[in-house]
Parts: sequence; C-alpha cells; structure tokens
Amino acid sequence: MEQVDRAYVWVWLPGTEEPVPAGMAYQDGPVVSFAYGRRYLERADAIPLFLPDLPLGTDPIRPKNGLEIAGVLRDAGPDSWGQRVIANRVLARGADVSALSDLTYLVESGSNRIGGLDVQRSPTTYVAQPDHAPLEDLLHVADLVAAGEDVDPRLLGATFAGSSAGGARPKASVRDGGRELLAKFEMPTDPWPIVRGEFVAMRLAVLCGLDAAPVRLAEVDHRAILLVERFDRRPESCERKIVVSALTMLGLDERGARYASYGDLAEIMRHRFTAPAKARRELFARLTFNVLTGNTDDHARNHAATWDGRMLSLTPAYDICPYLRAGGEATQAMAIGAGSDTYRMANVQGCIERAALFGLSSAEAREIVDHQRSVIDREFDAVADEAGLASVDRRALRKVMPHWYALADLGTRGSRVRRHAGIVNGLYSPGEIDRLRDE
Ligand SMILES: Nc1ncnc2c1ncn2[C@@H]1O[C@H](COP(=O)(O)OP(=O)(O)OP(=O)(O)O)[C@@H](O)[C@H]1O
Ligand SMILES: [Mg+2]
Repeated sequence: MEQVDRAYVWVWLPGTEEPVPAGMAYQDGPVVSFAYGRRYLERADAIPLFLPDLPLGTDPIRPKNGLEIAGVLRDAGPDSWGQRVIANRVLARGADVSALSDLTYLVESGSNRIGGLDVQRSPTTYVAQPDHAPLEDLLHVADLVAAGEDVDPRLLGATFAGSSAGGARPKASVRDGGRELLAKFEMPTDPWPIVRGEFVAMRLAVLCGLDAAPVRLAEVDHRAILLVERFDRRPESCERKIVVSALTMLGLDERGARYASYGDLAEIMRHRFTAPAKARRELFARLTFNVLTGNTDDHARNHAATWDGRMLSLTPAYDICPYLRAGGEATQAMAIGAGSDTYRMANVQGCIERAALFGLSSAEAREIVDHQRSVIDREFDAVADEAGLASVDRRALRKVMPHWYALADLGTRGSRVRRHAGIVNGLYSPGEIDRLRDE
C-alpha cells in the first residue's frame, strides 16, 4: 500500500444534510498543511473549518503554533483505540508500519467519525463506509483487536469499517432507531467495572443539573456496554455538527496538553462562545463535579464545543469516569487556574478560590458544590443499583465520590491545599516539603 500524501476534507455545512468538499490536506514535509478548494471558496455559504487555524483564502495554510496538523483536522481522527483498529486493517492489507501516518489515520477513520468533517480519498466522489453492526459482533471483534490478534479483514470491515471515535477505550458507533449512539465496552482486562462507574457518574451529573450526554447501559454476555447519545448528530437527520476539542480551542496538541487549563478555557468562552456566562458557569460545575466524583482524567480532549463557522457552543459533558485510588491527594488532568497559575489539585476548595475565572462569586461557587454534594449523597445508592454494581465495587466507588481529599479544607482559606499545590508545582524545595510534612 502506498503512503497517503493527500486527502480531501468534506464538511457538513451548518443545517445541511450532505457533505461538500472543502479542501485538501497534504503532507508538507513533517507537517500536514491544508488548502481550501476554489469551488468551496466560491460558495456563498462557505465557512472556515475553524478559526484562527484555517481562515478562508486561497493561500495554503501550514499548521500554526508549532502543531503538526490543524487541531480541527486532528479532532476528526482517531486516538489510541481507533488507531489500533486502523493499524489492524491497514497492516492486514500488506502495508508496513511506515504507512501509518496522520493522513492515513484520517482517511481510514470512516465516515461516521465524530463531528462534521469527513476525510476522503476523492474531491469529487463521496464514499460513505457503513459502520453499524450488532453489539455482539462489535464486542467480539473489539476483544480480538484489544488482544492484538490479526482479525479477518472481512470481519473487521463488517464491524469496524469506520471505527473512528477518539479516546482510548474500545468503542463503536451504533444506531438505535433514528439516534446515533457511542457504545463503550467493558473489557475483560478492566481492573474494576469502569464502564458501570462511568454510567454512575454520567447519571449523577444529569441529576446535579449538568448538561451531560444521556446514557444507558446494555449488557451482552454479562458485559456492560455504555450507550452514550451523540451530540454531534441530530435524531432522524443526516445533519452533522463540527466539533472541536478544548485542546484545539487552546491551540495545543498532545505534546502541550499539560498546559491546558480550565481557567484559560473559561477566558476563551468569554469571547468566542454563545451564551458565555452560562457556559462558564457550566464549566465550573463540570470541574467541581469531576473533582467530587474522582474523575481525574478530565484532559482537554474530554471537553468540546461545536463550531458553526462563527461561534462556539459548549457540547454536553461526556467521558466523566471516576478513577479509584488508594492514596490521598491527586491532580486533575487539566490545570484549574489560568495562565501561570498551574494549580491542579483534585480539591474543591482550590476550585472555589478560582471562581472568579468562571464569572462566579465564592458564594455562588460554594452553592454549586454544596448542591452537587447533596445530590451525590442522596442519589448514589439508587444510581449504583441501576448500574448493577456489586457491593465491594459500590463501596470502592463511594470512597471517591467524593474522596476525602476533594473536600479537604472546604470552607477554610485553603492553606493546606495551597501547600499541596506548591509541592506539586515544585514551589517548595525538598527540605521545605519535609518541614511542611512534619508540621
Ligand atoms: N456523546 C458524544 N457525542 C459525540 N461525540 C462524543 C460523545 N462522547 C464522546 N465523544 C467523542 O468521542 C471521543 C471519545 O469518547 P470518550 O472520551 O468517551 O472515550 P474514552 O475512550 O473514554 O476517552 P479517553 O481516552 O479520554 O479515556 C471524545 O473525545 C469525543 O470527541
Ligand atoms: Mg475521552
């Protein structure tokens, strides 16, 4: 198989049900550049695929900020799970591993990928790969792929022809009537019932008043499958919404992901989001809910917005997944402060102290936290029942919902929490840390 050195980006323009070709992504030395097509630029309804990354114009566009590919294009590709499926398929066709470039992953990702872009081999003929298969078949093939086995290409094609959604967990797109769902599979290698834990957190999020994607659980062979309603599709419609991750909004890629912060995202919201005050409040509530439910994997691909060519709108929350931990303090994947304030402790007092970044007073922030705590306390048992969690798993989950460290110093001036932040951020020397620990 030849290396893919160019591919064509098709877009569903807002409110339309058919994709149109927008331009070409091509290998440009070590990076992937992009050029809009002439016909696209002539359309009255043409929109930039994202700004400031890909402004409309005839000049070729190299990725900005030292990125290897524009973030909005990268967001249309797979993460580790999808890459594994694609590698399986491409290598089975006799290609060597050097064929697995960013462009290959983009082309191979399949039509039902997340968002409103698709990447095709042709600028004139749109070919949609089918990627809906029965859950039983998907689960069977997911097991084979996860085990690193060669899968019969016909079987892979019949199940994971698309297999495009990002993220690390085995997952697939499924359809339920007119609705598109994302199915996330429980795997035999899971250290605890992670998928059921995610169900509990997602359900509690809705009960706490967050705008979280609706979920339900299915079971195949006693294995849980989390079914999440997709927010980038409209029921009974072929319309698709362009989705960008927070990583893209912040102008970062995986290598710079540690610089992503809630505070900086909230600042972007002020200028670029529809209903900015509501969105910033919602972001704060998602942050404290993540802290209160032990979801420390809240990285910048786990927040997203839709893009209509002009403005961004926060998507419903997704991938809220509690992590069981034995120790005390922990950090959030995204920093909480803005700019040089790299505070990231998994502690709500530290969030409340930064409420102003989200347009909230300390009292409003405290009210949000108190409300979430009371709903979690009240509803946990019922939701854990619904999730079918066995008793030991339920108790383990309850320990991080909320973890004691999340509540440490709540209502105080947060001196201890600040000290922890100093330790993690390297503000204290080892000698000072020992002295603080002895205090
Ligand atoms: N309800 C949804 N509607 C549309 N897109 C979604 C939805 N949920 C998730 N996604 C997209 O699919 C990607 C993968 O989903 P998710 O984050 O749930 O998977 P994951 O494997 O648990 O991820 P991670 O690697 O962060 O653990 C997300 O980054 C997001 O782009
Ligand atoms: Mg994720």
